[in-house]
Amino acid sequence: MNSETGTLFLHPDRNLALELVRATEAAAIRAVPFIGKGDKLGADGAAVDAMRKFLGTVDFDGLVVIGEGEKDNAPMLFNGEFVGTGRGPACDIAVDPIDGTSLTAAGRQNAISMIAVSDRGTMLDASTVFYMQKIVTGAEGIGVVDIRQPVGENIRALAKAKGKLVEEIVVAVLDRPRHEQLIADIRATGAGTRLMLDGDVAGGINAALYGTRIDMCVGIGGSPEGVATACAIKAIGGLIQTILYPKTDLEKQKGLDAGLRFDEVYDADTLVRSDNTFFVATGVTDGGLVNGVKRLGPIIRTESIVLRSHSGTIRRVTADHLAEKWLG
Ligand code: FBP
Repeated sequence: MNSETGTLFLHPDRNLALELVRATEAAAIRAVPFIGKGDKLGADGAAVDAMRKFLGTVDFDGLVVIGEGEKDNAPMLFNGEFVGTGRGPACDIAVDPIDGTSLTAAGRQNAISMIAVSDRGTMLDASTVFYMQKIVTGAEGIGVVDIRQPVGENIRALAKAKGKLVEEIVVAVLDRPRHEQLIADIRATGAGTRLMLDGDVAGGINAALYGTRIDMCVGIGGSPEGVATACAIKAIGGLIQTILYPKTDLEKQKGLDAGLRFDEVYDADTLVRSDNTFFVATGVTDGGLVNGVKRLGPIIRTESIVLRSHSGTIRRVTADHLAEKWLG
């Protein structure tokens, strides 16, 4: 109960996660005609459209904290837009109708559609600063790795904590010129790299999940993606640490004006100041986290992952949709 207004706070509950997955499924299905067609904007537009339509039917009062950008540039799902029916729990929401638009346009693996949710007012609004440095590991990394340490030290410390040889450690990094030295430093330890063309949300989650081939995800990637990843990491119980990485003085000033701090390590609890988080993702194309949309005769099959911090449950949802309902 809010002591000032006397209103009852509603927190997002378990049903919300399964409602949200309908929106990522819809976005992934609608992106399919664009896979491999070289049309990033078309793919993103179709996914945004579908996600927004489905979100409009969900009983919650969602505020898009991380969306497709500012209102004037993004016709829908822009930062500050309210989504949902307005009835039900008040939430912050991060959406990425496609994380991996270039992957989708090129017909490459690892594109996902995702939504992350937390209690209202708890998600860091880092929209003024596009990039952040990130490190993500499973729970073994807690109290062991530190983003301020050289990557080699973190790899050795994590290997020890996991009871692995350093040579067995696999580190996911976005394949970008800015990571040339980082990749060399990782390899110098004897550890291996998995170079990602795009999509460091899936890379980070794979680093935190048990039973995957990735032990750590590091490097500079999108700030919105970092906050969304934090929602998932809270549910998995892993480690995420980030430091904002402004590219220009103007971006830094905008960040300072927005109350962001550049000397601070933002971790799971400061990226998302709530212990009630949800993360759902559906595969657009096949990938290490979830498989992509498949057409099987009269059926369209989707694969999703649903994470909820309260229970810590990691649910994998396979859904068969009647293709005829999605045609046209
Ligand atoms: P979009 O598909 O939403 O454009 O993001 C893809 C992505 O690879 C993110 O996963 C990552 O955080 C970011 O882009 C990295 O940015 P850049 O491509 O500029 O290095």
